[in-house]
Amino acid sequence: MFVNLFSYLLMINFSLLTYNHIFDSFILHFLYFHHYLRKENFIMGFGINNRLSRIIKPKTGKTVMLAVDHGYFQGPTTGLRDLKKTVTPLIPHTDCLFITRGMVRNCIDPRSDVSVCLRVSGGPSILGELSNEDITTSLEEAIRLNAAGVGMSIFVGAPNEDRTIANLGRLVSEAERYGMPVLAVTAIGREMARDARYLSLACRIAAEIGARFVKTYYCEDFYKVVEGCPVPIVMAGGKKIPEMDALQMTANAIKEGASGVDMGRNIFQSDNPVGMIKAIRAIVHKGATVDEAFEIYSKK
Ligand code: R5P
Repeated sequence: MFVNLFSYLLMINFSLLTYNHIFDSFILHFLYFHHYLRKENFIMGFGINNRLSRIIKPKTGKTVMLAVDHGYFQGPTTGLRDLKKTVTPLIPHTDCLFITRGMVRNCIDPRSDVSVCLRVSGGPSILGELSNEDITTSLEEAIRLNAAGVGMSIFVGAPNEDRTIANLGRLVSEAERYGMPVLAVTAIGREMARDARYLSLACRIAAEIGARFVKTYYCEDFYKVVEGCPVPIVMAGGKKIPEMDALQMTANAIKEGASGVDMGRNIFQSDNPVGMIKAIRAIVHKGATVDEAFEIYSKK
């Protein structure tokens, strides 16, 4: 800062003494503010923007994230009993894996060029109170694993709502120091409908607290959720549904403003996971119709 100020003062002196012309001085001031300060801003934002661009692809402004973090509270769930076997053939079609550090270390080939968004929250299993989560993985670990982002859940309308939202605030404050974008995964209380009203509430809170992008479920009037949330939203797939319905839901979400998907079960529990992720990609990145995408899925 002082060096910058010093060189700026030198420039003023130089312009006044040598040229003694107000016009030259004006030009130098203009160049300084528009070139130097803009460049500095760019450098300061490089880390976080570079990481984000490894998740949300700049070419389309969208992403196909593959969510395989389910084991952090569900254990060896259907389709992910052998995570390495399931995920390896899907990696070439994936922009970013949403995954825990344990599965990254043990199941992902480090030579792979897929980016990783690390799930860094956890605590309870499916047998306990799901909202009782805390941060489980350090930022240092995320950096060591070359993560492009970190993600955690907030539970709006659930018993530990306040703690999970406060935890998000703490994670964002620490992550921003290292240029690490934070994904907030929005969960809502058991008795609340997964509708635009409650999902909007959860997504907006996540953005207000500082999440760089947000994951939520599809709902009727999804565009209202997008409208109320100034950061990119990626759609979670939810429970396994017929492939045609999952493709239709994806197309609707993209049309209504989603920046892509962070989908798990509707890909890895499909009878043709590779076909399904290719079909999802075609919708997200190429604007394929649902029928075109279904054809891609159907090719074995
Ligand atoms: C949920 O908490 C997990 O974080 C999953 O990543 C999320 O549910 C997305 O996976 P799915 O598409 O299977 O719902």
